[in-house]
Amino acid sequence: MSDALEPQPDTEPIKDPGLPEHLYRPQDVDESQARRTERQISGMFIVAALLLVGFCFGYVLIDDDQTFLGWSAQNFTFGMTLGGALLLMGVGIIQWAKKLMGDQEMVEMRHPSASSEEDRVAVMKDINDGINESGFGRRPMIRNSLLGAMGALGLPTLFLLRDLGPLPFGQSTTVWKKGMRLVNDVTGTPMKPGDLEVGQLVNGEPAIVYEVDDEGHPVLHGTELLQVKSKAAIIVVRMRPEDITPSKGRENWGIDGILCYSKICTHVGCPISLWEQQTHHLLCPCHQSTFDLADNGKVIFGPAHRPLPQLPLGLDDEGYIIAMSDFPEIVGPSFPEFARDQKKLDDKS
Ligand code: FES
Repeated sequence: MSDALEPQPDTEPIKDPGLPEHLYRPQDVDESQARRTERQISGMFIVAALLLVGFCFGYVLIDDDQTFLGWSAQNFTFGMTLGGALLLMGVGIIQWAKKLMGDQEMVEMRHPSASSEEDRVAVMKDINDGINESGFGRRPMIRNSLLGAMGALGLPTLFLLRDLGPLPFGQSTTVWKKGMRLVNDVTGTPMKPGDLEVGQLVNGEPAIVYEVDDEGHPVLHGTELLQVKSKAAIIVVRMRPEDITPSKGRENWGIDGILCYSKICTHVGCPISLWEQQTHHLLCPCHQSTFDLADNGKVIFGPAHRPLPQLPLGLDDEGYIIAMSDFPEIVGPSFPEFARDQKKLDDKS
């Protein structure tokens, strides 16, 4: 230990300026001042201990429903006592370190961090001895079979990955088919054109989601129900027919201004329903992709690359709105196998 660094040899490019002169604190030179500081710090710690005892009394003595200045009296007491105690302990410890603990500057020169040459030679010798004694190099059959077994340890991981969910292959269709009714996704009631006013948007599902069998049990349940609901979710909107500009082949996909689109964003699959009825725009809340529902679900803003898939609509004999087919495009986000699956759909139609 020294007050300043040792003078450096002249070969150093920059001279070490050393440490500034050590300044003694009042507590270092005046014993009565040191004792006063000691009493102050101890006082803080004692008050902190009393506050912690007060915390316990507060817990026992104050009712849950008592208030103080509009706050819960119990919470107020807890906050003041525990917070005050921690504050005093922290201040006391800092004062102790700054005013009473030794503050002599110490210098410890750096040493090379590498092991000595002898240690390194000894370690390499031990490793080589271990390899030779184990026969790892002499018995290639054992060595190679062990390496093979260790490599095979990765195989179970692949199978565990499979548990993350269904593979994305063959996901190109939904349960929608010709004649399936559109139902309100809250009430489960089939929709008629008169149920929608111009400017209105309704969230829907295929009727099969609410169907029951002869014994009154739901036709779909569990994981299958969830998968069907998530893939086939739709939005149904009504606009003035003159505002709609259907592309070629879609002229009869709507009913008197009522159009139906997938509710699943084609970017990464968030459900969409932020509808701006004046502009006919539908905004995805996740990354702000915006689709023009009057213009075939075209993307007009944001990271989505594909228009929102549209479901062709018709009416059944009882006047309920039905699908005229499945979605002609894949719903949801575009996976790498999208192009292949889309080709399959195109070939089918
Ligand atoms: S999921 Fe809709 S914009 Fe990203």
